[in-house]
Amino acid sequence: MTALIYRLGHIALNVVDLDAALSDTQAIAGARVVHQDATHAILTSNRRHAEVVLHRAQANEVRAIGLEAVGLEAVEEVGKRAKDRGLRILSETPSLPGVERSVTFASSEGHIFEVHTPVPEDQPLRYVGAGIHPRYLDHVNLSAADPEAIASEFSEVMGLILTERTTGFELMWMRAGDGRHHTVGLKKGQTGLHHFSWELSDFSDFKRLGDKLDACHRNLVWGPGRHGAGDNLFIYYIDSAGFMIECTAEMEVIGDPHRQVRITDAGENLSNAKVVNRWGALPPRLWINHHTDFVGTAR
Ligand SMILES: [Fe+2]
Repeated sequence: MTALIYRLGHIALNVVDLDAALSDTQAIAGARVVHQDATHAILTSNRRHAEVVLHRAQANEVRAIGLEAVGLEAVEEVGKRAKDRGLRILSETPSLPGVERSVTFASSEGHIFEVHTPVPEDQPLRYVGAGIHPRYLDHVNLSAADPEAIASEFSEVMGLILTERTTGFELMWMRAGDGRHHTVGLKKGQTGLHHFSWELSDFSDFKRLGDKLDACHRNLVWGPGRHGAGDNLFIYYIDSAGFMIECTAEMEVIGDPHRQVRITDAGENLSNAKVVNRWGALPPRLWINHHTDFVGTAR
């Protein structure tokens, strides 16, 4: 199947305390502000105009996962496929300035995606300021009540390709056109976002992240370690609005579009270190149970 999605585009979050979320994203992850007004703020870590968008709201929830399409026709194709499957179309107006075309829809479980043409690259690559300064947003990991059905839906509507899954469909990893092992991961559970991920430049940044959190009297959730699925280095923390953030590096890139799906056994309660963390430390309950709602999915 030809890829319709190239990469993760941006993440739009609703936050109760916009000032705190803005300060956290700058001081810890180290993204910089592109735009700020009373209602929302746009942040980036590279030339792209937007990577994270924070909206002042009544609850800390995910507003939308932005996925960058391979082109204008791909946006239209995703919209057509979503309508054909009876999925709810929420908007066909781009949420970001300078984006030519987009379609925002809800999955059958309520995950919200804005599939859009590229975000303009109109920002300086390097900048001064606090925090780690990540390279770019890398992937999201969603939770779904029925990951097998949702992965099939994502494949049919957005052309995402299944890279790897566990034997019981507890964890699934899907890739986009850039070939990274996963742009969208799935974890069995209540519909929502489990975490989103920044790509860091170097493992020394992981040390800096731990020290920054320590300086704020906060802790890491899990890591550092190396995931078996994706072979990526990882470290996790929770931000001021309760979103779990992974910082990663060195994810496997798959060049062969026809590579067979890898099937692995994660073990009971994610106990197979060779899949979960090749360095040994298994995920704590805080990581396993973490969940954030999408707008409209709160129970
Ligand atoms: Fe991840």
